[in-house]
Amino acid sequence: MSNVKCIGILTSGGDAPGMNAAIRAVTRSAIYNGIKVKGIYRGYKGLIIDEIEEFKTQNVSNIIQRGGTILKTARCAEFRTPEGRKTAYDRLVQHGIDALVAIGGDGTLTGARVFAQEYNYPIIGLPGTIDNDLFGTDVTIGYDTALNTIIECVDKIRDTATSHERLFFIEVMGRDAGFLALNGAIASGAEAAIIPEMSVEKDQLAEMIENGFRKSKNSSIVLVAESEVTGGAMGVAERVKNQYPQFDVRVSILGHLQRGGSPSAQDRILATRMGVAAIDAILEDQRNVMIGIQNDNIVYVPFSKAIKNDKPINPDLLNTLRISSI
Ligand code: F6P
Repeated sequence: MSNVKCIGILTSGGDAPGMNAAIRAVTRSAIYNGIKVKGIYRGYKGLIIDEIEEFKTQNVSNIIQRGGTILKTARCAEFRTPEGRKTAYDRLVQHGIDALVAIGGDGTLTGARVFAQEYNYPIIGLPGTIDNDLFGTDVTIGYDTALNTIIECVDKIRDTATSHERLFFIEVMGRDAGFLALNGAIASGAEAAIIPEMSVEKDQLAEMIENGFRKSKNSSIVLVAESEVTGGAMGVAERVKNQYPQFDVRVSILGHLQRGGSPSAQDRILATRMGVAAIDAILEDQRNVMIGIQNDNIVYVPFSKAIKNDKPINPDLLNTLRISSI
């Protein structure tokens, strides 16, 4: 049985819908199990500069439906330095925090891993990112809501694309991963997705679009994952404009609106399950693992696996998009 009497909780990196649901579940599950909770504001930055407050169950009332994170978030350069991490460790000791729950994406878990190794300190990670790019979990908190936001936007763009018979390149987030673009394309009925995991030659792309236009379609929508590899929607549109001046091409970059909004039912349930599982993990004396979900079962994924491996794209999805968009 664990000796943890008090945990700290923080959110770090890009926010994701469902982070509040996770904060609520971690807090309530900890208190239910007799563990004190300290909320740490602004991620690792708040830990270093001492923005820490005790959380009771009321602190997390009325937040499950809210997007963003009540704990605020930041990307913290100082935590990447040994001096910054030393100050962070001193703060944890000063506040009597015996273990940390860190909610965030790749950068957050990378920081957690380094710190945990350096100070032999127990940290449980929750995958909170719209990018869905963490290995060892089928989905991450925020991904489903972001997908729903994307399809809502694409549906609207399609109206004007159809009226004007235009070819739209719509850029979605994902950092270096194509999950949002590929599944967003399937769910919105787009003609194609350009993702970094799959290299699309410009001729192939143009041919695909041209065929679509010539056959039966009076508009085309292509989702492009932001990434240096794809060149983003602007880069792809430029290439197509140069080679196929007959197309009336437009670009839409969805940007940060993909990170906002009330979390979907799926994200609220996922975040709540993972939040409760984080405390179970602490009670079981687990350390330095990310809570994941695989085939609807909670799993513990060592940080080293979650952040070091590239999460593969399911090739079935590529085929599904190809077939369904003819
Ligand atoms: O990792 C989440 C994410 O939204 C990425 O999809 C995107 O590349 C990045 O964060 C944007 O970060 P920022 O909010 O710092 O512009």
